[in-house]
Amino acid sequence: MASDQMSERAGSPQARLSRRRLLGAAGVLAAGATGYAVRGGGSAEPRRQPAVAAPPRFRGPHQPGVATPAQTHLTLAAFDLATEQPGELRRLLSTWSETADRLMRGGAGGLDPAGLTVTIGLGRTVFERDGRDRLGLRSELPGALAPLPRFAGEELDPERSDGDLCLQLCGDHPQVIFGALHTLTREAADVAVPRWTQSGFRAPASGGTPRNVMGFKDGTVNPGGAELDRQVWAAAGPAWMRGGTYMVVRRIRILLDVWDATSVEQQEAAVGRRKTSGAPIGGRSERDRVDLAALAPDAHVRLAAAATNGGAQLLRRGYNYLDGVDAATGQLDAGLVFIAFQADPHTQFVPIQRRLAAQDALNKHIQHTAGATFAVPPAGGAFAGAGLFARL
Ligand code: HEM
Repeated sequence: MASDQMSERAGSPQARLSRRRLLGAAGVLAAGATGYAVRGGGSAEPRRQPAVAAPPRFRGPHQPGVATPAQTHLTLAAFDLATEQPGELRRLLSTWSETADRLMRGGAGGLDPAGLTVTIGLGRTVFERDGRDRLGLRSELPGALAPLPRFAGEELDPERSDGDLCLQLCGDHPQVIFGALHTLTREAADVAVPRWTQSGFRAPASGGTPRNVMGFKDGTVNPGGAELDRQVWAAAGPAWMRGGTYMVVRRIRILLDVWDATSVEQQEAAVGRRKTSGAPIGGRSERDRVDLAALAPDAHVRLAAAATNGGAQLLRRGYNYLDGVDAATGQLDAGLVFIAFQADPHTQFVPIQRRLAAQDALNKHIQHTAGATFAVPPAGGAFAGAGLFARL
């Protein structure tokens, strides 16, 4: 996709920045009164949780929000840089990392962190935009961030796509997620301005594999253990991204009227699994082995399976969305915030999505409406992405 043009059409960050400046100090003071202000030295005592597992921490060889269990709520926020100074980007990533760590440990104005995870990503346009080396970082551009090709049938809205930076906020309470986003957005101040946000929801993990808005269990087959390590964490590319991962986001509208007019048998044939149990067609329960030959040639699961794609897999960690009513059709604007992590989108997401875009029986029920790709660096050093600045 032509990311550069898209960013241009989404309006200049400078214009949005001056509007923000216009709001002036009053806005900052009002924001402080919400109780989410996290300033240095604030109370950062981790709260005792009855939870069995230790809450994820921000710092570590891998960022949280990737291989950590998915919480019930999501907000993704993309930002555009309003600076061309690499030092300012460095400071922002350092501040965001510090704050992410504190918020995840319960530093948000006395609110329970509710399982909050913060994941920080960088888009291709940080390194190169309109052919320009904006921040002097082009030599660090990972090949994995090369623009994705255009896929058949997609209609991506540039204003909801791409972005220089991304925050993925996940947690079990939307208020905590909002508080975290508010704090982090204020900290970005003159350096980065919000471009788009996208929220989503899913059922708690305790209820088994959660269902998508089509009513099917979604997330049954995902790599785990050593396979996850192999498929998800980047082992090649620039040093600053080793141990990191690449996040592909797709906002996929589900055309519920068309779907609802389809019989359950046809729906199951299109997916390749039973609606109620999640069992593969030809099997009896959800975890049964999938016999690809028993599925229709255009079944979603058959086309997306590792065996069909030379072993390529994705770590899917998507959420459902509801964004009100589509005024043109009177239908609910609902669907899937598809989020997939992988070591290289060009050898994993791209071939799978090419196959799906060409043949998937689900295509008449869905529409890809926005997309973005971000590098998610490790957070084991001083801050997430610190290695990017090693040579500056
Ligand atoms: C609205 C769009 C989509 C819907 C409703 C959907 C739904 C599903 C469902 C119900 C399953 C079976 C259960 C499971 O294993 O999770 C599944 C599997 C899968 N989907 Fe999707 N999906 C969508 C888009 C995509 C896209 C865009 C990709 C990647 C390009 C993808 C990749 C996969 C993969 C890799 C599997 C596992 C296949 C296997 O090995 O069995 N899906 N999807």
